[in-house]
Amino acid sequence: MTTAADYTGKIPNNVSLHEDRRLQRALESWQPNFLNWWQTMGPTLPTQDVYLRTAVNVGRDGWAQFGHVAMPEYRWGIFLAERDPGRRVGFGEHKGEPVWDKVPGEYRAELQRLIVIQGDTEPASVEQQRNLGATAPSLYDLRNLFQVNVEEGRHLWAMVYLLHAYFGREGREEAEELLHRNSGSLDAPRILGAFNEETPDWLSFFMFTYFTDRDGKYQLGTLKESAFDPLSRTCEFMLKEEAHHMMVGTTGVDRVVQRTVEVMREHDTDDVAGLGAIPLPVIQKYLNFHYSVSLDLFGGETSTNVANYYTAGLKGRWLEDRRRDDHKLTSDSIMVDALSEEAGTDEQSIGQTEVSALVGLNTDLRREYISDCQGGVKRWNRILEEGGVKQRLHLPHVAFNRKVGAFAGIEATPAGEKLSAEEWQRRQGAWLPTEVDKTYVRSLMQPVHQRGKIAAWIAPPRNGINGQPFDYDYVHLA
Ligand SMILES: [Fe+2]
Ligand SMILES: [Fe+2]
Repeated sequence: MTTAADYTGKIPNNVSLHEDRRLQRALESWQPNFLNWWQTMGPTLPTQDVYLRTAVNVGRDGWAQFGHVAMPEYRWGIFLAERDPGRRVGFGEHKGEPVWDKVPGEYRAELQRLIVIQGDTEPASVEQQRNLGATAPSLYDLRNLFQVNVEEGRHLWAMVYLLHAYFGREGREEAEELLHRNSGSLDAPRILGAFNEETPDWLSFFMFTYFTDRDGKYQLGTLKESAFDPLSRTCEFMLKEEAHHMMVGTTGVDRVVQRTVEVMREHDTDDVAGLGAIPLPVIQKYLNFHYSVSLDLFGGETSTNVANYYTAGLKGRWLEDRRRDDHKLTSDSIMVDALSEEAGTDEQSIGQTEVSALVGLNTDLRREYISDCQGGVKRWNRILEEGGVKQRLHLPHVAFNRKVGAFAGIEATPAGEKLSAEEWQRRQGAWLPTEVDKTYVRSLMQPVHQRGKIAAWIAPPRNGINGQPFDYDYVHLA
């Protein structure tokens, strides 16, 4: 059943906004605050227009339009995936019951919290990336950055719609707060740690879109399973847009590795610093950093909150319907990462422990995420192999550089050996970007804003956007 998209009002939508004047007015009064946030916290590089895709509906044949758009005039809209009238709860104690069109009173606080946490990450990444335009390696990359930015803005709209439509005055207040908190702010920071880190250079941006945006994909995947149907349908459509963000990260790192391999071969050396490319050990350090802070986003290995969310039907597992179990998990167990006591000593070692499957759901999701991340490393290593280079990239051990969960209190090498705090201090510069590494990477970030040109530290993409060539005029600068 297809709802026609309404594209005539102030807020494009496929939720029949005009039928609910109060809601429409509330959202229309939030809109100028959003635009003000975009102007003050969004991209800083002045542009005339950008070749962007805009979501116009959710249908299978075409949900987006491409064209040059002045960014402040971008049509941020509210689009939910089509309703499946026969949909039933897929897990937890309500399994098999019809899904909910309204928020059940007993789950109101929890659902609101889940939506606020998801909503907070969307504008955060726009804030983190706001200065990157000034150093874009090509107009193609600049366009991709802005595409990710406007869509994260739309994802904020998606969460704000739910808050306004289903959570009354508290929801409206939370929607305001989503614009007041800012990434890295001392007074009112974003909720999750990784979203307060800066994204100072394009290697960080590609690592962020690969590793941190991918966490978002997995969180959305669990919310897509929700028994609260409007949340499920919202997240289902957001996941469509996320695919492009993943592509930007995956191929971005591809192209950095590709260029490094080329320069290594050309000069027959591993030491490409000073030759305008990014050395493989530096790429590995950036990978180590972004991967480990992204693992923290999945929370502790065990969580009774998450167990309760699952049992209540609020948040499922990644690809819940492909799991071959009872989807209630009340009698299952799972091994989770843990510190364990070493017999006869007061030392603790990196190990695992068995817990009930419900309590270990964060671990389940993190494992799905980790195996997905391995796919990236595999393809980057294929580029190294095909380039005739012996070195390989690796995902560090789960205990490496963790600030959340079982390993937050210890230090470990990327290989997973436990270290003393002093040894960690002495050796961490070999594994995480140092000031020298960051300064070098930043020194490469000279803007290339000419059509068809590209910076020397990155290879051009294999394909352009929407069938356009690489040298297309993706962005007109102001
Ligand atoms: Fe997003
Ligand atoms: Fe994203």
